[in-house]
Amino acid sequence: MSVLGPDQIYQLLRHLTSPVVAITSERDGKRNGMISDSAVRASIAPTVPRVSVYIHKFNFSHDLIFDTGRFVLHLLRDDQFALIHQLGFASGRTQDKLAAVPHHLGMLGAPVLDDCYAFFECRVVNVMDTGSSTCFLGDIVTVGHGAGADGAPRGNAMTAPYFRAHMPAEWRAEYERLLRAAQQYAAERSRDIRAVIWRGLEGGPAS
Ligand SMILES: Cc1cc2nc3c(=O)[nH]c(=O)nc-3n(C[C@H](O)[C@H](O)[C@H](O)COP(=O)(O)O)c2cc1C
Repeated sequence: MSVLGPDQIYQLLRHLTSPVVAITSERDGKRNGMISDSAVRASIAPTVPRVSVYIHKFNFSHDLIFDTGRFVLHLLRDDQFALIHQLGFASGRTQDKLAAVPHHLGMLGAPVLDDCYAFFECRVVNVMDTGSSTCFLGDIVTVGHGAGADGAPRGNAMTAPYFRAHMPAEWRAEYERLLRAAQQYAAERSRDIRAVIWRGLEGGPAS
């Protein structure tokens, strides 16, 4: 068996990243959005549609979602680079990132972006602490898409490899710098896993 270095392992693990999605949230009138490539389908039962997503604790979105128990996950089209830059390269702690992004509040009260490939409004039903991040398990309560005139989704969904290969060259240095900072944060905290019982589950397993 060959022994791989951390960089080679990281490159292999990149095959397990998700499409690039926008995650929105709202708390006390404050609306926010971020970008993730760690969102996956978390149920094969069509009658129990679920997703999961890992969000670092240093992100503002983490606290908004943890405190409210709701988020909206948006698949993006592969031409939505500007939105990824807007939401994924700066924090909503210091600016209103959705101010110029057309959206409305969905049925759970979190922002739904008008322009996307598809969206899933989610209610958090459980969480897992990883030390540096929280994995949120969300029940999908409603689904829609940024429809074209015929009511069908337009274009293709943005994948992580496509984003990395085609992002504007002037963003790459900043992207790498933010990624290294997040990796450092994760390296320092990932062994410090806490036992977290999601509210609503305190009484034990649902019958
Ligand atoms: C392509 C891409 C993928 C990302 N994936 C994640 C992720 O899976 N989890 C996470 O916590 N942050 C991820 N980020 C970083 C956040 O989107 C970024 O830190 C953002 O500024 C957080 O905003 P907030 O502080 O307003 O919540 C990703 C960013 C990009 C550009």
